[in-house]
Amino acid sequence: MESKIKELREEAAKAVNELSKSLNDLNDVRVKYLGKKGELTSLLRGLGQISAEDRPRIGQIVNDARQEIEKIIAEKNEILKAKAMEEKLAKEKIDVTLDGRRPPHGHIHPLTYTLLEIKNIFMRMGFSVEEGPEIEKDYYNFEALNLPKDHPARDMQDSFYITEDILMRSQTSPVQARTMESHEPNSPIRMIAPGRVYRRDDYDATHSPMFTQVEGLVIDKGISFADLKGTLVNFLQQIFDKNVKVRFRPSFFPFTEPSAEVDISCVMCKGAGCRVCKGTGWLEILGSGMVHPRVLEMSGYDPKKVSGFAFGLGVERITMLKYGIDDLRLFYDNDTRLLKQF
Ligand code: PHE
Repeated sequence: MESKIKELREEAAKAVNELSKSLNDLNDVRVKYLGKKGELTSLLRGLGQISAEDRPRIGQIVNDARQEIEKIIAEKNEILKAKAMEEKLAKEKIDVTLDGRRPPHGHIHPLTYTLLEIKNIFMRMGFSVEEGPEIEKDYYNFEALNLPKDHPARDMQDSFYITEDILMRSQTSPVQARTMESHEPNSPIRMIAPGRVYRRDDYDATHSPMFTQVEGLVIDKGISFADLKGTLVNFLQQIFDKNVKVRFRPSFFPFTEPSAEVDISCVMCKGAGCRVCKGTGWLEILGSGMVHPRVLEMSGYDPKKVSGFAFGLGVERITMLKYGIDDLRLFYDNDTRLLKQF
């Protein structure tokens, strides 16, 4: 019996010290030797068979062995617990030198960028920047611009009507009338009005039912076609290239008289003729003209006292030409491969 106990004690010590690599292993050892069905426990149960005189001594030995094993298990438990904690800490350590995750960078949309450039050029020439509603009255979109209800030129801007008298504005020209109305009659105006406009149209590489315009209006005493020409040539040379050639072609708009379509020499081929300018060497870039006397009158200005010029340009078209973008839809698709470049 005594040697059996000694053997068990040594076996348990070995199991604890050499074989227990983790707290789980150690627990298995504890159960194996000290548990309810453990080896030492069954030895204690066997004490009944031992003679009464040997019983106290053997019992003592078994208890000593039990305490001894408990002690080495407790010691090992401390060691393994410390080791487990160390491993856990090592695993969870935050590497503060690691590069953080950066939120993706935002970019200025190319149209916004062009618009900023346009605004800057005109602001340097003393223009103010005005705004008008995108949902507009028929009166401002057409009638105040000398396009009465049955005027055939309305067809070119077939638009989205909300009621008989309210529509999505088809041009930024209504801001002309709104700005004049908000001024003392005959007082000078020098403004641009950027914004979105809407027309029933296809959606393809060169058309969109929504696009962006910038309107311009200058009114003062003695404003002439020379002022129109000088202002627009200066603007086009700043926005494109100081060597760009500009030409004025007679045209028609109900709200200007005379009217001119303005072309620039092709930015792709410098006038030689290419696919972009359809071989002509010229690109149509904006509409303009001297403000029609009827338009001045309708907004309370006196055409005998003041005169003015107006123009309207497309921001998408200018942006496409400036950056060689050949599909209008790219502006509205939100493809970051395009946007990232700006
Ligand atoms: N509003 C005209 C258009 O959208 C452009 C324009 C504006 C022409 C001002 C002349 C003067 O086609």
